[in-house]
Amino acid sequence: MRKPFIAGNWKMHKTVAEALETVRALQPLVQDIESVDIAVCPPFTALYAVSQALRGTNILVGAQNMFWEEQGAYTGEISPRMLKELVPLVIIGHSERRKYFGETDETVNRKVKAALAHGLTPIICVGEVLEEREAGQTEEVVRRQVLGAYAGVPAEQARGTVIAYEPVWAIGTGRAATPEDANYVIGHVIRAALAEMYNDEVAQAVRVQYGGSVKPANIAGFMEQPEIDGALVGGASLKADVFADIVRITAGR
Ligand code: 13P
Repeated sequence: MRKPFIAGNWKMHKTVAEALETVRALQPLVQDIESVDIAVCPPFTALYAVSQALRGTNILVGAQNMFWEEQGAYTGEISPRMLKELVPLVIIGHSERRKYFGETDETVNRKVKAALAHGLTPIICVGEVLEEREAGQTEEVVRRQVLGAYAGVPAEQARGTVIAYEPVWAIGTGRAATPEDANYVIGHVIRAALAEMYNDEVAQAVRVQYGGSVKPANIAGFMEQPEIDGALVGGASLKADVFADIVRITAGR
């Protein structure tokens, strides 16, 4: 059985003060939840403060990106070694990074391998854009992204990774995928690609979240699906009470 995992991707939102206010409000609302893994992913500037504030709680902290090199002349970048000191998780290959910052399946792969080499758990984002969906290319695109992200990653490391299936047309649009559609892509494309690269055991072990306009009103529908193990939540993770509702509904509370 895979433990449900709800993570909030705050994107480029919140100062340190705002981030602390949010997690201080969130923590008491979810402290009794044991059946769901919970994480927040603040911007880099708030990572240290938030990770300190949440030490010893049931809320994990993750970064939203990293570079693959350990150190060096890479102005403006953050390395896995630096993150490992602060957090256990890192989002890799979010569609906004692919769209605005030139990330490709190859850079995603380098980052995934670097994260794993440093003991960080990557949340690897995949998902088709609207034109690809309309052209009937969803399966091909998502399969390529999964095979690309895991190229050269050994099975024992792959097993502990997390994937977020985020159809790009569903992000920030209020137009979520249907639970059935997301379940189909996760089972028939993502887990199938993992089974092909590794084996059924790995394909069944990896947790796969859905992301794209998740909110308290639709999370239950996603969680009813057998292949969906949680959510990567954007806008609805910014408010402590709304995010707590998503976590609590996932836990059946
Ligand atoms: P929204 O929940 O705002 O649609 O964003 C989803 C997302 O991109 C999470 O990484």
